[in-house]
Amino acid sequence: RPPAGWAGAAAAFDARVFGPDAWPASVWRHELSDGAAGVYLAFVDGDGPHASAVPGILALGGVSPGPEAEILTIGVAESWRGRGLGGRLLDELVSAAVREGAETVFLEVRSRSEGARALYEGRGFVPVGLRRRYYRDDDALVMRRDVRR
Ligand SMILES: CC(C)(COP(=O)(O)OP(=O)(O)OC[C@H]1O[C@@H](n2cnc3c(N)ncnc32)[C@H](O)[C@@H]1OP(=O)(O)O)[C@@H](O)C(=O)NCCC(=O)NCCS
Repeated sequence: RPPAGWAGAAAAFDARVFGPDAWPASVWRHELSDGAAGVYLAFVDGDGPHASAVPGILALGGVSPGPEAEILTIGVAESWRGRGLGGRLLDELVSAAVREGAETVFLEVRSRSEGARALYEGRGFVPVGLRRRYYRDDDALVMRRDVRR
């Protein structure tokens, strides 16, 4: 779980992965602070949170828990894509949501993002709605997965 001290590294990672859609450092400082509601997970290069230096972030994702949980973000460094990290990260985020009592998990995905849609569809998410112009340059497909056991 990325500690608060990684907010700068998280913002830099996010900017590389999402460009103009990235969250600013102020949002990451809040999201990684104690008491924030979201659950964030990262795959890192190095010794993880116990290392003295901030490690390289390879993948970063977060989920807002609750009965209707929501995947907030999921991204993998470009040079690490296609090796299973995105799928593992999504599995871990869904598991965290289930542990916190989720019955359904929602997410928004760019309608034109074939790779991300393939990732979600392959893991049981189904399209349930469309949010027009949710992104500056694209619609968002709303997807849902029932996780009740
Ligand atoms: C989408 C993203 C998170 C996928 O991460 P990844 O580490 O490359 O994904 P994985 O290697 O774990 O692949 C997971 C599954 O998605 C599928 N997939 C991933 N990228 C794909 C692509 N470009 N085209 C087709 N399928 C793709 C894989 O086939 C794989 O299926 P499997 O688990 O059945 O083998 C990554 O490409 C990324 O960070 N993209 C930019 C940010 C983004 O769009 N995030 C999602 C925002 S909603």
